[in-house]
Amino acid sequence: MRMTRREDDGSEDTPVERDTRSASESANRKVWAHVGEVARFASAQGWIDRSERVLLERITKEYVGGDVLDVGVGGGRTVPLLSRSAASYVGIDFVPELVTAASKRFPDADIRIGDARHLDFPDASFDLAVFSINGIDAISHSDRGIALREIRRVLRPSGAFVFSTHNSEGPGPRERPWSMPPVSVHQPRSSARTVLRRVIRFRTSMTNYRASVAMNEVGPDWMITSSGAHDFGLVVHYTSESALQAELRASGFAGAIELWDDRAGLPVGRARPQRLWWYFNVLARCSAVDGTV
Ligand SMILES: C[S@@+](CC[C@H](N)C(=O)[O-])C[C@H]1O[C@@H](n2cnc3c(N)ncnc32)[C@H](O)[C@@H]1O
Repeated sequence: MRMTRREDDGSEDTPVERDTRSASESANRKVWAHVGEVARFASAQGWIDRSERVLLERITKEYVGGDVLDVGVGGGRTVPLLSRSAASYVGIDFVPELVTAASKRFPDADIRIGDARHLDFPDASFDLAVFSINGIDAISHSDRGIALREIRRVLRPSGAFVFSTHNSEGPGPRERPWSMPPVSVHQPRSSARTVLRRVIRFRTSMTNYRASVAMNEVGPDWMITSSGAHDFGLVVHYTSESALQAELRASGFAGAIELWDDRAGLPVGRARPQRLWWYFNVLARCSAVDGTV
């Protein structure tokens, strides 16, 4: 596969271009473009949590031989997970440093600079789109619907979208540099690493947290506030289950919507209470006719 790239010339001052310069998004892009984070993302492999594994293993089997779009490909963790059974695979990301790192890691993969809000593909080009590890939450509230509609536009009517997004009713929005994160029996090693990091990086976390306060926004069922990830350097969008369902419907996802938890690989109803979920793993079908489970 030949690797191609698309660079935006930035000449058109559309609402999307204006929002691209929003303070929270600039902060997030800076975090992701940092050389240490690029190296970290470029060495990440495997699954992030059990729900991601369950959903992606199931959906890639269902769409064997399909065309896959990996939005926010980052350092390429998902390239082998999504491309091995696909007829075609394209990964896009709006951080050039990550695109370069992922392209070096997977020179045969089609990995390009691109933005979820203005996808450079014709309508109905893909069977499956994925936006992993809450990448969509870097987008401002007003642009979130634009991104969802763009993703829906490039999917075929029988297509599906798998992504994760922060839970506004979970512990995330209440995280503070001085509070200890809860320890999970499902992820004991990563919980221990988080606690240790919180102690060691306290001063940096405080600086980032203070800087993030000016970027906070609160809506009726959503908010933008700092996340404990990356030492409180990320400022992300949080949403509720009902807001999530409503925004997916409004963006044209008319089929089944499945919500899975953030660590145990369980769907709503079988998982622990939703107020304990940091984020939702989501599978949204484009249409109720095709591919509904
Ligand atoms: C948490 S990282 C996950 C990276 C990778 N998918 C993985 O699972 O390892 C989220 C990624 O989404 C990308 N991203 C966020 N907003 C984006 C947008 N509007 N368009 C394209 N990429 C975006 C970021 O640059 C970042 O690489």
